[in-house]
Amino acid sequence: MEYTKTPPLPREAPKMPTRRLLPLLLFFTLISSCAQKPKPVLPPKVTGTETFSLVSQWMLDNPGGAIAITSETLGRTLLITRDKKGELHTLDSWCPHQGCSVSPAQGDHLECPCHISKFSIEGGHISGPAPAGLIEYAHVQQGDELTVDFSDRTLRDANGIVIVEK
Ligand code: FES
Repeated sequence: MEYTKTPPLPREAPKMPTRRLLPLLLFFTLISSCAQKPKPVLPPKVTGTETFSLVSQWMLDNPGGAIAITSETLGRTLLITRDKKGELHTLDSWCPHQGCSVSPAQGDHLECPCHISKFSIEGGHISGPAPAGLIEYAHVQQGDELTVDFSDRTLRDANGIVIVEK
């Protein structure tokens, strides 16, 4: 007598009811959206003004130029840059990722040495882990003097949208 083996029937995977799946999906969406948008780490707010001399600052003569200058009011370095349109920008050197000091890099951008976040000459975020651009302060130029108002600050997120004003 001869027996033939029949293959076992394929088992169906147990189905998870949609009712249970929905809260799980919402939970993971929430977690991933939080993980993707770290908040910028900001320095304590400073008020007051400080005047800087631009005499002998030949690095600012041409578009794309940038200098790092010590600010007593700020207690750290201020970056002064000139963009392609010829306008000056007064930027905080504080990196919004973890607070390292951003410096003018070779080329036409600013760079944080800690985790290599790159910023445009206008302070906008280009690349790297920093969740925002650099803080920009309002300023007034009179001849070779540049007066920076630290009470008037603007911070833009990585897409250039203003997230902190004044
Ligand atoms: S502190 Fe600047 S990139 Fe991390």
